[in-house]
Amino acid sequence: SAEQLDEIYAFAIQLGKDAGKMLMDAAALRINSAPGQGQQAFEDKDNAVDIVTKTDTDVEAFIHSSISKKYPDHKFIGEETYSAGSSKDYLITPDHPTWCVDPLDGTVNYTHLFPMFCVSIAFIVSGSPVIGVIYAPFLNQLFTSCKGKGAWLNETQSLPLVKAVPIPANAPKGCVFSCEWGKDRRDPDSEKGKGGNLGRKVESFVNMAVEIGGRGGKGGMVHGVRSLGSATLDLAYTAMGAFDIWWEGGCWEWDVAAGIALLQEAGGLVTTANPPSDPATAEIITDVRLGSRLYLAIRPAGPSATETGRQ
Ligand code: IPD
Repeated sequence: SAEQLDEIYAFAIQLGKDAGKMLMDAAALRINSAPGQGQQAFEDKDNAVDIVTKTDTDVEAFIHSSISKKYPDHKFIGEETYSAGSSKDYLITPDHPTWCVDPLDGTVNYTHLFPMFCVSIAFIVSGSPVIGVIYAPFLNQLFTSCKGKGAWLNETQSLPLVKAVPIPANAPKGCVFSCEWGKDRRDPDSEKGKGGNLGRKVESFVNMAVEIGGRGGKGGMVHGVRSLGSATLDLAYTAMGAFDIWWEGGCWEWDVAAGIALLQEAGGLVTTANPPSDPATAEIITDVRLGSRLYLAIRPAGPSATETGRQ
């Protein structure tokens, strides 16, 4: 019911704030540590760029136990529980309301104290993320959304903040692209490595940027290309309108579920597009059960360039 959803939304926001505080408390210990001792200890998972810290597992355990106490019937999917092999039924099913959580998105950033990290909490009903809570404590940015209630920054500013030329009409003049390279470092020549290799991703992304950015003809250039190291924050900044397009091939449900909820509520789109492609014809994702590993996010459309003065 609507009342239940309101209660779950309030609970998710508090959970995000508490988890973000845990991330920051653990980071502060390092900021205040002796010179040279600041880098957080980490362990490799699949390879040397796929890492986990004690903070990831501690924060996930806190979120998981809080949810189990309050909503014992709900399913829980978390990045670290899944990686540890203790979540046997990680697939999101239509029958169970499901929480999909990344306790620390941007783990590499976190270990280096680069501020782009956050906790990401999504509540999913029948495969659709209906609540998204994303908290980046170092940046003091809390992104929240609930279906039908808008998308918000710090609970007061309605998203998108930046309103610019609609995409793809009048193709993105002066747009900012964002992309992530993922963690797949397999040999591109092996059958399994095909498509996952870093070099190929860079190449296909650059092709897409050139193709879309060039459409505007003279002046239709891309202003900039960014890579933050947090798929969740990429989606949040796309919902904000700061990024026009974000692309990544290779993420998991917990990397994107809360961000998709936020972006859709702000009026943006997520598609299964494999670049180079045309956002206008790509298949739109509303259901995280689709299991797509390729995401293209397009920011909410706003008033025309003449209204905003942006050219
Ligand atoms: C990763 C980050 C990264 C993206 C990866 C994610 P993690 O999440 O979002 O930017 O490229 O696909 O798995 O491991 O830091 O939670």
